[in-house]
Amino acid sequence: MTLEGKVALVTGSGQGIGQAIAVRMAQEGADVIVDDRNIGESAEETAAAIRKLGRRVYIFQGDLAKMDDNRRMIAEGVTELGKIDILVNNAGVEKRADFWAITEQDFDFVLNINLKGTFFATQDFVKHLLDTKRPGRVINISSVHEELPFPHFATYCASKGALKMLCRDLAVELGPFGVTVNNIAPGAIETPINRNLLGNPGLVQALLGHIPLGRLGKPDDVASLATFLASDEAGYVTGSTFFVDGGLLWSYHEQ
Ligand code: BGC
Repeated sequence: MTLEGKVALVTGSGQGIGQAIAVRMAQEGADVIVDDRNIGESAEETAAAIRKLGRRVYIFQGDLAKMDDNRRMIAEGVTELGKIDILVNNAGVEKRADFWAITEQDFDFVLNINLKGTFFATQDFVKHLLDTKRPGRVINISSVHEELPFPHFATYCASKGALKMLCRDLAVELGPFGVTVNNIAPGAIETPINRNLLGNPGLVQALLGHIPLGRLGKPDDVASLATFLASDEAGYVTGSTFFVDGGLLWSYHEQ
């Protein structure tokens, strides 16, 4: 086990990619703080899978768009499980809209969770590391759309593009404290965030035409990389984005 003795906080881990990462990290020996906006069956499901592996778990419920909830998440996580070593900023949302029709509410909805939430959760996590004089790992779940345009999703692209630069910048500023910062950029993964796409066989078929590996990704495809980046094996890796997209990003062909 590569994460024995570590505590990981995975935001948005009641479902999808976050859930897979939380459970995989527990398999590797980590105790886990599960975070979800709603404590429903799915957060409990994640927690139950972690407990079954013999690991400790704490469920935090909050809205990461709110500064107070963000602060509370790190503080309660530390109180309940003693410390945090690994922060996975996974919680994210998207909203389809033509650029000219995007409202301030749409903008705040997406940017407040994807960017502001990630920004300040990381800030509080780093303060905790500095206070306790320990190294740590920050892993942001970004998207191929930190690089690749996604028309009608300008808010999402703006948030993920910002995460690209935030990763580079913090890797340099926090490196001297032993904190690594990396992004994972998933492509089309089968999760609730793309429920609309998955429910439309025509759209899925068209998308598969752009994925050289010929299939959609699974949350576990992302979880294995996240676990590696959190492990001691990845101690010299910082400031990079790793694509988990079946080749989607560079897939251009005329026929
Ligand atoms: C988005 C999905 C989209 C995928 C590939 C992800 O970041 O959340 O909605 O299908 O990128 O474009």
